[in-house]
Amino acid sequence: MIDSVYKTAMRTDLCGEISKDLKGMEVTLAGWVNKRRDHGKLIFLDLRDFSGIVQLIFSPDKYKNSYETARNIRSEYVISINGKVRMRSKETINPSIPTGEIEIVVKEIKILSISKTPPFLLEDGNKVDENTRLKYRYIDLRTPEMQRNIRLRHEIAAAAREYFNSKGFIEIETPIMAKSTPEGARDFLVPSRLNPGKFYALPQSPQLFKQILMISGFDRCYQIARCFRDEDLRADRQPEFTQIDLEMSFVEVDDVIGIIEGLFSYIFKEVFNKKIKLPIRRIKWKDSMETYGTDKPDLRYGLNIKDISSVFGKSEIKIFNDILKNNNGCIKSIVIDDSSNLTRKELDDLVEMAKNNGAGGLVWIKVDENMDLQSPIAKYMSNNEKRDLIENLNLKKKNLILIVADKFIVTCQVLGIIRKYLAEKLKLINQDEFNFVWVCEFPLFEWNENEKRITSVNHPFTKPDENTASYLGTDPLKVNSKTYDIILNGVELGGGSLRINDASLQKKIFKILGLDEKRIEENFGFFIKAMEYGVPPHGGLGMGFDRLVMLLGKLNNIREVIAFPKTQSAVCMLTGSPSNVTEEQLKEVSIKIVEEESK
Ligand code: AMO
Repeated sequence: MIDSVYKTAMRTDLCGEISKDLKGMEVTLAGWVNKRRDHGKLIFLDLRDFSGIVQLIFSPDKYKNSYETARNIRSEYVISINGKVRMRSKETINPSIPTGEIEIVVKEIKILSISKTPPFLLEDGNKVDENTRLKYRYIDLRTPEMQRNIRLRHEIAAAAREYFNSKGFIEIETPIMAKSTPEGARDFLVPSRLNPGKFYALPQSPQLFKQILMISGFDRCYQIARCFRDEDLRADRQPEFTQIDLEMSFVEVDDVIGIIEGLFSYIFKEVFNKKIKLPIRRIKWKDSMETYGTDKPDLRYGLNIKDISSVFGKSEIKIFNDILKNNNGCIKSIVIDDSSNLTRKELDDLVEMAKNNGAGGLVWIKVDENMDLQSPIAKYMSNNEKRDLIENLNLKKKNLILIVADKFIVTCQVLGIIRKYLAEKLKLINQDEFNFVWVCEFPLFEWNENEKRITSVNHPFTKPDENTASYLGTDPLKVNSKTYDIILNGVELGGGSLRINDASLQKKIFKILGLDEKRIEENFGFFIKAMEYGVPPHGGLGMGFDRLVMLLGKLNNIREVIAFPKTQSAVCMLTGSPSNVTEEQLKEVSIKIVEEESK
């Protein structure tokens, strides 16, 4: 018997912990039947709990009653047994499980709960259709993979709490029934029975509350906070998700970054017994866009984007000329070592990919064995241009150059998408690497073409960078911000900023965002008022906790690290939510469902 916290009135040990050290000892175990094998004279059951599997053996000669009971037992029955640990015979040793050297000769067995035939075998795990897994999540969660994922999540959360507690942070909960404020995504609304016609909104993040806690003098706080956003879902997005959220007073950018780097270091040490290299590299937003074509750069591979506008400054090629002279655009490229890695059809697909993502097209050039350039545009290039291109990009025989010419953002983004696609296709990514990078100094605002207005890149509470703040009144799109996003392997893990601590500047930002006095008062009046009573300079960060666990667990879907996630269409397969409610319930909250008129 092992002296373990898991010892209870119903068991002495855990299944996965029985070893040859217990040879000859009597143990009492409880768990689920993983598998039954009936060899006529002998019955074998694999007994499973969260710690692992152990083989039970039943023989009619020794303990007839328990043998008879075992005959009727099926997979996923819950049983408890009492028996003696013995070594397996040499030829039956199973080296693939930790308990493979021993087995338990069962004296007594009790059925604690029976089970229907499960809808899928646990060992088929993630080969099973995901909707079936989610519908029977309680069974899916029994698999070793899901046990590992959810336990990893717990360990990372526990390490984060320990770390923050040790750094003087206190954990403060903020409301889930909050106020609807236009911040980015769509809100989930909750009708109020006591205030007919009025709604709470579920928080997209605890942003304003954590800032108010700084105004209240708590100095440092954190929260493992549930957040809710009604947006289109993807592999790394859920309508309800969890953030590690923190806020600190009297800080500069380096202070917040230092705390987060310490957090990663602590988690890696405590949970994985690994060291990470600090400090984490920092890149400015503009440089990240220029070199990687995205604000979420994956630095595990090269294929960096290079600007070649200067090569084509006097070009005869009309599209290049137009872009540079008339459209204030740029010409950028990616170089691939060996052009034979891509077929002609694959090159055509890249051209389509560029077009589908908003560029006019994509031009390719191959360098042949004689260092001549082969391309549909080669005949329009002057010798000087060819020479400059070879020099500028340091081209070698067999290289392939992919070129996009368009407005700055479009060019960068399209080449960023192609860069990522090629890295996957050409298998350039080291899947074992954890590559962190900070992207800093984002623009404060961006032009939203759909809404035809200026919107915040981060959120409206972000502090403008002092060096560019003078453009606020004249050309706000030129203003940078005190922001820092943390990226891991090309996925945005978290974002944060220093915050505005001046009520009049905060109002000015709202006005630039198109909110008039009335709207500011309605949506943010309470916050502006709080800002009139002494606000410490402060800053913080919100980190996607589900994404963090997903990446550290080397998984590619956040549903794998959430016990009860929603599907892509925001449905809970287990409970069937969202679901209809009764007329009575609707009446109580003053809501009437109106059928949409047929179009
Ligand atoms: P932001 O909106 O960038 O910042 O969110 C922070 C991080 O939360 C994660 N995240 C999500 N994870 C899963 N599903 C979603 N739908 C989802 N949406 C966001 C991402 C993201 O980087 N209040 C600010 C933080 C701050 O300034 O302190 C905020 O929420 O990993």
